[in-house]
Amino acid sequence: MYETIKYEVKEGIGYITINRPKAMNALNGEVLDEIYAACAEVQNDDAVKAVIVTGEGKAFVAGADIAQMNQLDSIGGRTLIAKGHKVMNYIESIEKPFIAAVNGFALGGGCELAMACDIRIASEKAKFGQPEVNLGIIPGFGGTQRLPRLVGKGMAKYLIMTAEMIGAEEANRIGLVEKVVAPDELIPTCEKLAQTIMSKAPIAIGVAKTTINNGYDLDMRAASTLEVEAFTSTFGSKDKTEGMTAFLEKREAKFENK
Ligand code: HXC
Repeated sequence: MYETIKYEVKEGIGYITINRPKAMNALNGEVLDEIYAACAEVQNDDAVKAVIVTGEGKAFVAGADIAQMNQLDSIGGRTLIAKGHKVMNYIESIEKPFIAAVNGFALGGGCELAMACDIRIASEKAKFGQPEVNLGIIPGFGGTQRLPRLVGKGMAKYLIMTAEMIGAEEANRIGLVEKVVAPDELIPTCEKLAQTIMSKAPIAIGVAKTTINNGYDLDMRAASTLEVEAFTSTFGSKDKTEGMTAFLEKREAKFENK
């Protein structure tokens, strides 16, 4: 059982809900451990085909836990940072789609958690920011690296150096989120998106995710080679036979491989 998150599986979707609403779902070591454990459940459970990550109450996640960080020396800080990176990298490595349903404040480590997910859908009430410089630190759960990759170097520096909090529409405009919806529509939109992805060939979805993630930082030649090999792995799958046969027979494909 989890203390600081909720994890449940419904109709093929794993829901990870950060559940410390009184502390704006701030990430302490325990929350990070529990997110990691839930991710391991996701990875090992064939019944889970997609994941929705969200927050309980008015925040998605308002960052790393400042009260806990304030107690840590630099060794303790390093341990916390390493733990955060382990979680974010784990999310990126699991061959299933993770959708961040950003319901409210996504600040610091919260924005970083959303960025580690594959797709971000924001409620109109969501707010994004990397306010670490207000605390005398810099983003530490991947923000200095994932933010420029998503929004460009200039905008990333703007957000990190000013600590400005931006709304969902601006986050959408700069490419930090893929879609903005009314608060009531947030989870249904994410569920519909998950179902759409789940209706596709699962092996192809997983391989697409890791090929994009692993190729992004390579030079074009190495990245092309990566794609050739990744493509070949899907080409040998039963899903490929089913997908192409279904097209030619003018029927819906039925993908049964995990
Ligand atoms: C610990 C937090 C917290 C946080 C909020 N709380 N954010 N506790 N860590 N990151 C707590 C508050 O102390 C308060 O507790 C309760 O949640 C409600 O917060 P309020 O401030 O009263 O609410 P509100 O006025 O609505 O403002 C919401 C807010 C603000 C804008 C989200 O709380 C805020 O600015 N929080 C800090 C955001 C931040 O700086 N995040 C980056 C952290 S650094 P009490 O007990 O008083 O009710 C980071 C680095 C990651 O993430 C990598 C390095 C490890």
